[in-house]
Amino acid sequence: MIRIGLLTSGGDCQALNATMRGIVKTLFHNVKDGIEIYGFEDGYQGLIYGRYREMSYGDFSGVLTRGGTILGTSRTPFKLLDTPGEDGIEKVPAMLHTYHKLNLDCLFVLGGNGSTKTANRLREEGLNVIALPKTIDNDTYGTDITFGFTSAIDIATKCIDDIHTTANSHRRVFVIEIMGHKVGWIPLYAGVAGGADVILIPEIPYDMDNVIKAIEARDSNGGRFAIIAVAEGAISKEEAAMKKKEYKKKVAARVKPSVVYDIAEEIAARTDREVRVAIPGHTQRGGQPDAMDRIFATQCGVEAAKACMDGKFGIMIAQVAGKMCHVPLEDVAGKLKYVDPDGDLVREAKALGISFGDE
Ligand code: F6P
Repeated sequence: MIRIGLLTSGGDCQALNATMRGIVKTLFHNVKDGIEIYGFEDGYQGLIYGRYREMSYGDFSGVLTRGGTILGTSRTPFKLLDTPGEDGIEKVPAMLHTYHKLNLDCLFVLGGNGSTKTANRLREEGLNVIALPKTIDNDTYGTDITFGFTSAIDIATKCIDDIHTTANSHRRVFVIEIMGHKVGWIPLYAGVAGGADVILIPEIPYDMDNVIKAIEARDSNGGRFAIIAVAEGAISKEEAAMKKKEYKKKVAARVKPSVVYDIAEEIAARTDREVRVAIPGHTQRGGQPDAMDRIFATQCGVEAAKACMDGKFGIMIAQVAGKMCHVPLEDVAGKLKYVDPDGDLVREAKALGISFGDE
C-alpha cells in the first residue's frame, strides 16, 4: 500500500490534470497492494489547513484534456512561509502535521519556482517530496521544458496570427503583451511562430530608438503594418542599468497597467502610425493542453510515480536534452532559467530580420 498526497500550487496552467492522471494511473497499475490518494485543495493552503479529499482512480479518468486543475490552486509565497497568517497558524508545522496525520508516503507537488522552493523546504523538514515542473513561463531551472509552456505558445501565437488581419487592414502597429513573468520564453517562441517584426524580452534590454528604426525599416520595405511581441517583463537598456531598488520604484510608480502601454505611447509619439495594444492575458494559461503538453505531462507523471515506487524523494522530475531524468530539489529550488541572448532561436530570429531592440 502506498499513500500519496497531490497538490497543484501557484498559477494554474494546461496539463496539470494530465500530470496527476499520469501519476495515479502509473501507481494504480504497478503497486500490487493498492494506493490511497489524498488531493489537497487550493495548493499548499489545503496542506496547511487540512483541506483534502480522498480520491479514487476514477477521479482521474477523463481529465487528460481538461485545463485548469481539479484540485484548485493558490499562491502561498515562500517568503511568508515562516510568518504566521492573520489567524496565527504556523504554516510549516501545520503542513507537517497534515502530512503525518495522513501517514503519507509521498507528497507530489505540481508547481513552478516558488512552489518548488516550498517543496524543498518540506524536504528539509523530512518529508518525502517529489516536484513536477509546471508553468507556462518555462522558467524552471534544471529542466529544458515545463508543462503548460507549449500550450501557452500556441495561444500567444494565435493572438499574433489573428491580429495580423486588422493590423494589415488599418496599417497599424500592434504591441502585444505576452506572459512569462521575468523571462522571455513565451514571447520568443510565439514571436517567431507568429512572425512578429520585433520581440522584446527581459533577457535582451531594448532601446526605443532601435524599435522605432525597426518599424521604419519595415515601412520602407513595403510592410503595411508591424507587430511587436513584448514580454510582460521587458525592460529598456536604461532600466536594466538601474539598481534593482530604483527599477522596482519606477515600476511601482507606473501609471499605466504595464510596460506595453508605455511602449505603444512612445511609438505613437515618435512615428505617424496608429498604434494599438492587445493583451491575451490569462487566456494563455487557459483551455485544453496541446498534444505536446499532454505527452510531457504524462511522461512527468509516469516518472514521478516510478521514482516514488523506487523510494526516490527530494527530487524534481525534468527533461534534459530530450531525456527524462530527476534533479535534486536542493539544486534547482529558487533558481530561474532564462533565455540565452546568444541562443540558437534568438540568433536565427535575428538572421530573419526580427529586431530585439538591442541593436
Ligand atoms: O507564472 C504564470 C503567470 O501567468 C505569469 O506568466 C504571470 O506573470 C503571472 O502568472 C500572473 O499571475 P496571476 O495569475 O497571479 O495574475
